[in-house]
Amino acid sequence: MISLRNILVNKISCKSIWFMRQAGRYLPEFRKIRKKNKNFIKLCLNSELSSEITLQPIKRFNLDSAIIFSDILMTPYALGQDITFKNNQGPKLSEFKMDVLIRNNKEDFSQKLSQVYKAIEITRKKLEKDKSLICFIGAPWTLLIYMLGLKKNNNSLDIDKYNKYKKQINKILKELNFYLCAHIENQINAGADVVQIFDSWAGLIPDKDIKDFCYIPNKRIVDFCKSKNIVSICFPKGLKKNYEVFNNFVKPDGINLDPDLDPLWARNKLKDVVLQGGLNPKILLKTNKDILETATKYVKAFKDIPYVFNLGHGLLPETDPVKVEMLINFYRNYNE
Ligand code: CP3
Repeated sequence: MISLRNILVNKISCKSIWFMRQAGRYLPEFRKIRKKNKNFIKLCLNSELSSEITLQPIKRFNLDSAIIFSDILMTPYALGQDITFKNNQGPKLSEFKMDVLIRNNKEDFSQKLSQVYKAIEITRKKLEKDKSLICFIGAPWTLLIYMLGLKKNNNSLDIDKYNKYKKQINKILKELNFYLCAHIENQINAGADVVQIFDSWAGLIPDKDIKDFCYIPNKRIVDFCKSKNIVSICFPKGLKKNYEVFNNFVKPDGINLDPDLDPLWARNKLKDVVLQGGLNPKILLKTNKDILETATKYVKAFKDIPYVFNLGHGLLPETDPVKVEMLINFYRNYNE
């Protein structure tokens, strides 16, 4: 088997499959652990359990890559913001304070996340050699959305708050860049071999600010990765046609597609990059026939070019693991 890292570095066309949120709430074996561990952040900082959760989907489905069980919000946590997860309401962060952010230093930050790195070390030892271990970060803008509470309940941008913080945003993004690069380097040193950069809320940035708040911050991180020989996959979700501009500007090794993109458009417009994902996770809530029809569209569109099978967003909690297995079997057995 060819590892994800190798596919990304050498732009190889071969079969490879993993899922965003493959370790999570749709798995009964995860829910069992979660029930006994009510504090999500503490669970992420329990290296033995995090490693066990990371390996659950590998044991069940023999997926080609593992993604470490953690969260993008571990970064603001380590930078001093309190985080709570209320049932099905999403995360709540304590009020952002600039003086708290700038008082941080790399050593204390890394120390606070040491159990995440330990989980990576433990997992790497247990994972087959040819399977990549993916680590991840939230892109600066997406972290800022949570840190400043810039998103309304209907998932639109809170324009008043955005304008209120506007002058501070660049400074916060730069501070975050420093700690995110440290977090990536620590995770790679612990044994991860690919990093995925989640810019889940890139689609909320007003057009005039997209270069400053999305392209440039992502490029800074990808350039850092390149300088250290670290392989990266970007996921600037919601950018629509600007995916092309993003790809040409940032030049990551891989790029994850979202469900809004037409697969053939992506194939034609996104060059010199390994494509990944795209399939709408909601499809997995439908019939087998619907699932296979849509999955076929993706496999056909990316025939003969480097493509990693994945979704256009994370697996939904209500997904039936049996459907996930069916999709994996379909992909593995597909040939044309
Ligand atoms: O992919 C994986 O299996 C690895 C683990 C992983 C989690 N979060 C675990 C998790 C990854 C890669 C993430 C990324 C993440 N976290 C993103 C980027 C991807 C995306 O979904 O857009 C974002 C925006 C977050 C922030 C976050 N964490 C939210 C909004 C929530 C609550 C709602 C939700 O989507 O689950 C979380 C909690 C979270 N992170 C859970 C898991 C398994 C659920 C925790 C629970 O059991 O309640």
